[in-house]
Amino acid sequence: MKINIIVAMDPNRCIGANGKIPWICQEDLTHFRNTTLFHPIIMGRKTFESFKYGPLDKRHNLVLSSRRFWELSNPYLSHVGAHANLDVCSSLLEAFAKCYHRHELEVFVIGGAQVYEAALPYTDKIYVTRITQCVENGDTFFPIDLGMRTGWVRDSSVKMEWGSGKFETYVRAEGNEVRPYIHC
Ligand SMILES: NC(=O)c1ccc[n+]([C@@H]2O[C@H](COP(=O)([O-])OP(=O)(O)OC[C@H]3O[C@@H](n4cnc5c(N)ncnc54)[C@H](OP(=O)(O)O)[C@@H]3O)[C@@H](O)[C@H]2O)c1
Repeated sequence: MKINIIVAMDPNRCIGANGKIPWICQEDLTHFRNTTLFHPIIMGRKTFESFKYGPLDKRHNLVLSSRRFWELSNPYLSHVGAHANLDVCSSLLEAFAKCYHRHELEVFVIGGAQVYEAALPYTDKIYVTRITQCVENGDTFFPIDLGMRTGWVRDSSVKMEWGSGKFETYVRAEGNEVRPYIHC
């Protein structure tokens, strides 16, 4: 099973402010949807709670939380069990194992910063949207500066059609081995 990260960041690696994504970029939303559609998506509890309309459709939503009993702040989601495409996992490895046992070929880790940090050692590929505008009051950042120094190489870069940003992908540099997530 291939593990991907997908993230949008500003030039300072900012990904969030006040629990939200601090820009509106329709082209990136379309890119995110097209890339993740029909694949499982793994996210932190805070990212999930930022979704206005609950779980994202046509994708198995796996939400990480260490709480045994937690209430979703979103009024649409008072009952986790009400959504067939929503699962809560107490660890990242539990989420990976669930996807693996469902014979998924690819999963997408969709944030936020805490989950990106935990997922990086297991990740095969990173899909990055480069937003050109700098966020002023950002409070959440992607954990690493992607490049040779951190063991990642860019393998594609496409300019946005309408906006000024770019869509890039990164893969592991030679010698930067992925950590296995299933221990036999
Ligand atoms: N620009 C982007 O591409 C992008 C993407 C996603 C999110 N964001 C932004 O990022 C911000 C949220 O990021 P964040 O780092 O503050 O929060 P987060 O990663 O979304 O959620 C953190 C919470 O998830 C749970 N969690 C995280 N790692 C876990 C693990 N390994 N095992 C078990 N539970 C785990 C914990 O929940 P409990 O406290 O319940 O235990 C933790 O408090 C928001 O501003 C959001 O809009 C941006």
